[in-house]
Amino acid sequence: MELSHRSQRFDRLAQESELCLRRLLNVDENYVVLFMQGGASLQFGLIPMNLCNPDQSLSYVLTGHWGVKAAREAARLRQVVRISPDLAASDQILTEEQQVKHAASACLHLTDNETIEGVRLPELGLPSHNCLISDMSSSLFSRPLDISPYGMIYAGAQKNAGIAGVTMVIVRRDLLDRCPDSLPTLMNYRDIVSASSMQNTPATFSWYVCSLMLEWLEKQGGLIAQQARNKVKANALYQCIDQSSLYGNSVPAAWRSDMNVVFQLPSDSLTQAFLTMTEDQGLIGLKGHRIAGGCRASLYNAMTLDGVNALIDVMQEFERSHS
Ligand SMILES: Cc1ncc(COP(=O)(O)O)c(C=O)c1O
Repeated sequence: MELSHRSQRFDRLAQESELCLRRLLNVDENYVVLFMQGGASLQFGLIPMNLCNPDQSLSYVLTGHWGVKAAREAARLRQVVRISPDLAASDQILTEEQQVKHAASACLHLTDNETIEGVRLPELGLPSHNCLISDMSSSLFSRPLDISPYGMIYAGAQKNAGIAGVTMVIVRRDLLDRCPDSLPTLMNYRDIVSASSMQNTPATFSWYVCSLMLEWLEKQGGLIAQQARNKVKANALYQCIDQSSLYGNSVPAAWRSDMNVVFQLPSDSLTQAFLTMTEDQGLIGLKGHRIAGGCRASLYNAMTLDGVNALIDVMQEFERSHS
């Protein structure tokens, strides 16, 4: 924790973590990789500042809370166009018509996985756009990724790749030409690249933990193997919910998240009783986000299948004793 970020050892760690990230996600030299602070939330403001001229607009596909927040933040600075897909009616993110309509926007922003609602974008039918941006805070490193359709992706480390304090930002090189010189250096992607993400003291310990996590993912077989493990965990839990008459999940199948499985019980009192029972058995963090209510099991990379099976056992036991 005391290691200077100007030391050779830290420099090596920084370089190796970038290389490891590039290997895991197959990121070529056409893209730059930044390790930043300020969380994904800071990116909500930096995207319009860096990638959109004042006379242009940005389009946001809204599938949940975080996309709404990203759009609201951008709207402080630029014109924003909001698009709300009808999840129940379609498994397409955008229709052909919408893609044509939004092609003129400076950026098209998606939230790959909406952490609170448990909604993930369908795997097929990614819209095409010259500057397609995705907030992957709760899904990056959970599965293999073809980065080539994207202009930029970003994610805080704390879900699938370590602890809070580091945000990974991957930007296609040509987009750096858009960054205005007038921006403060710590907010300008081009300046951050020039300083190798170290204009000032980075969150060294968080970066270190992130580097360990990336190495661990590689040793576990990379992202193909990680995706297989994540799918087994999520399928087991969705199967338990779908077979039950007590728990429900209303997210249409094509949009269901592998990372955040939300489920509801028929009443607040049953939800509370369930949360008390799970906590008594050492299963914590199952309360849904305060704006969504209900329950939510986050199955990030660090969660084991044993952990998920333990939850399923308690869910089934609770259902037996409450029906
Ligand atoms: C999808 C998504 N985007 C953005 C955020 C905000 O991240 P941060 O707290 O790192 O700013 C979160 C946090 O949970 C998230 O899940």
